[in-house]
Amino acid sequence: MNLTDWTITEKEFKKENTELNGSRYIIGNGYMGYRGTFEEFGKQELVALNMAGLFDRNGDSWRESVNAPNPLYTKVFAGDSEVSLLECAPSEHERSLDIRHGLHLRKTVFKIDGTLITITANRFLSIENEHIIGLDYTVSADKPVNIIVKTGIDGDVWDINGPHFVIKDKKSEEQINSLSCETIENNIKLVVYEFIDTNSGQYDNSEKVKLLNVFNTVVTPEKPFHFKKLAGVYWGDEVQNSEEMFKESIKCGYDKILRKHNAAWKNIWDKSDVVIDGDEEAQRALRYSLYQLISVAPRGNGKCGIPARGLSGQVYKGASFWDTEMFMQPFFSFTDPQVSRKLADYRINTIAGAKRKAREYGFDGAFYAWESQETGDDACTLFNITDVFTKRPIRTYFRDKQIHVSADMVYGLWEYCNISDQYQILADGGLDLIYQCVRFFYSYAYTKLNKRSYEFLDVVGPDEYHERVNNNAYTNKMIERSAEILLSALTKVKLNYPKYYKEFTEKNDIEWIEDFKNNLYVTSPDENGIIEQFDGYMGLEDISLEDIKKRVIDPNEYWGCGQGIATTTRILKQADVIMMLNVFRKKYSKKILEANWNFYEPYTEHGSSLSACAYAIVAANIGNTEWAYKYFMRTATVDLTGNSRQYLGTLYIGGTHPAANGGSWNTAIFGFAGVSYDDDIIDISPHLPENWKSMSFKLAWKGTELSVHINGNDVKIKAIGVKKNINITVYGKKYDLG
Ligand code: BGC
Repeated sequence: MNLTDWTITEKEFKKENTELNGSRYIIGNGYMGYRGTFEEFGKQELVALNMAGLFDRNGDSWRESVNAPNPLYTKVFAGDSEVSLLECAPSEHERSLDIRHGLHLRKTVFKIDGTLITITANRFLSIENEHIIGLDYTVSADKPVNIIVKTGIDGDVWDINGPHFVIKDKKSEEQINSLSCETIENNIKLVVYEFIDTNSGQYDNSEKVKLLNVFNTVVTPEKPFHFKKLAGVYWGDEVQNSEEMFKESIKCGYDKILRKHNAAWKNIWDKSDVVIDGDEEAQRALRYSLYQLISVAPRGNGKCGIPARGLSGQVYKGASFWDTEMFMQPFFSFTDPQVSRKLADYRINTIAGAKRKAREYGFDGAFYAWESQETGDDACTLFNITDVFTKRPIRTYFRDKQIHVSADMVYGLWEYCNISDQYQILADGGLDLIYQCVRFFYSYAYTKLNKRSYEFLDVVGPDEYHERVNNNAYTNKMIERSAEILLSALTKVKLNYPKYYKEFTEKNDIEWIEDFKNNLYVTSPDENGIIEQFDGYMGLEDISLEDIKKRVIDPNEYWGCGQGIATTTRILKQADVIMMLNVFRKKYSKKILEANWNFYEPYTEHGSSLSACAYAIVAANIGNTEWAYKYFMRTATVDLTGNSRQYLGTLYIGGTHPAANGGSWNTAIFGFAGVSYDDDIIDISPHLPENWKSMSFKLAWKGTELSVHINGNDVKIKAIGVKKNINITVYGKKYDLG
């Protein structure tokens, strides 16, 4: 694989990389994602047109996101031979992903009976019209050869726990083919259309799950066979008018749709790119991470979150985790507030599920799903991992005890408000979300009669290897922050939306909040400055990572749960105290950050791709740029190298890693550029890696676009479209922005 500034390229085809490349070369537009597979591939090669926000359950197996029928399916035959990467080794092959425009391009040359046959194909998922997919496909040859091209919609799709739909209808009218289906569980309609701008083919409906156009033609060196295909995918309510919508797109035409798509990508990059001078490798990895984030962002009508594996398939059930609010949303809040608002709206719209979950466990308020799908009910099962030794499901407590998820929701929503200076969302359900989450914590809290403090017992923090612990440092601090946010949100609403405030406070008791916030137990640093991860953590076995690995029997065995090898030791799965210190990095002294970084780093396995960026950001903030850089590169290259865990027990967890992608941006901006902020002030105190000559980026801060250029310690900030007086400091010194 070769990566230039804006493209990644492979020049040979290796079948064994099919799964990894499916994620690496993915394209997406937030509505759907299309894995980086080839047109002649089928479900064995994990082709997937993964839909955001559409879920289904078949029988007793896990509910998961749905893969739609594949409208790009195309096979070429010459005589008895299939001209395909699956059937013969190519004499030349090049495939690339243009991350500037979200285009997947391939050119493969095959030698069949002495004739060189070349397949060239370009495809895109329109980021401007989220329903539309384009494929530009050419077969050429160095000698005249008779070929048959079959291209159409393949309904035989890859599923982990499927099948997820039944095919209801296959149609071909006015050159438009369509395949209509319905999901199994809730009978949700989904339709896939395709239109090929030619009338020389013949329609073939003979295969049960495929709908094909067949072209039988002679290709000569002068006359290649070429077609452009537009496909349209619609589900739910949009199916009703989908035919007209698709016809509109046909009228607009392939070329214009592509031009609009390119222009939309350009607009997005204009506000979100980060330019690094002096380090090409870091530049590429960071851009690639941003590409991944942009491709999964909900933009159109969709009402959904971002799944933990993006739109690369059904891993983790297509569900959204705390990953979104804590790792990805900062990028959107600072570069594309509309996307950030959509993410917050998704949580507001799914609060009913969170309320049901709180009630299920006997609490008040809203306990958000650990794994959230379209209703907000928790898709996480009680036995979420299977033991590799016994093949029996193991009880995990992610669903019941990872209560910090509700605090993460509050945090993400308030960050959106504060960064964008948009508070309308509070009156549109945002205040209720914040209130219900804090209310949940209030009912979860434990108080001893002789001790006026609120503690949080029996929880799971970010480090999942230690379940059912008391007073996890991250959890308690985030709950304290949520209570603070609730008070700030109430003040805002009282001032800006007095009528709503009155209604809200008549319905909801707010007397208890102040006391709850003031008396919440938050772990203090000990005499060495160390914050104990949870009560009793220091008493656990002190073992090195190197030594614990000697106890591993099976490479995929799970280190947590009841009998996992890490549970009785200090070894942690992922940043926990360091995640807390990353979020609150300005609230603790450099000495505390440093002491904890040095203490916890050797114990951290980084068994989750969410871990590295927290270590990177804190390292940058204590001036340890060398380690910050190492961890930055680890988070920024995760989807390029494929160096991430693929199995949890027997559970496959491969795919893309948008939280780590977000972590790359967070490290670049909050780590190296040293951006920090509170409600009124933004500070930039850079600590660039040595080889970075300069770094430039834009931030949308309170409606004003700040264009930042950092050169060593020299910081230039240009404010465009100033919306209100901006308080900005550089290395803590105040400057006036014109
Ligand atoms: C991590 C969680 C994360 C989830 C989805 C797990 O392995 O421990 O923190 O939310 O993956 O990315």
